[in-house]
Amino acid sequence: MIVCVCNGLRDKVCRETAASGEARNVGCIYRLNGCQVRCGRCVPMMREIFAAHAPQPPVSGSCAACAREETVAVPTAAAA
Ligand code: FES
Repeated sequence: MIVCVCNGLRDKVCRETAASGEARNVGCIYRLNGCQVRCGRCVPMMREIFAAHAPQPPVSGSCAACAREETVAVPTAAAA
């Protein structure tokens, strides 16, 4: 079954990502699969999947995908 139509994410992949322990939160399920939330209609179901399959207690910190994003330099406005 497809959970996220916008990204073509299937329930099996979402369950496996949540259960892997790499996903620190619901957003990590998207990022670890190279996606991002678009319309948001799938978020409630993704929350249910995360709650049902993620290891408890949730692991704190950044997932691998979040850590990669954090290492990307954010452009800032040039000083005047
Ligand atoms: S259905 Fe998942 S972002 Fe639209």
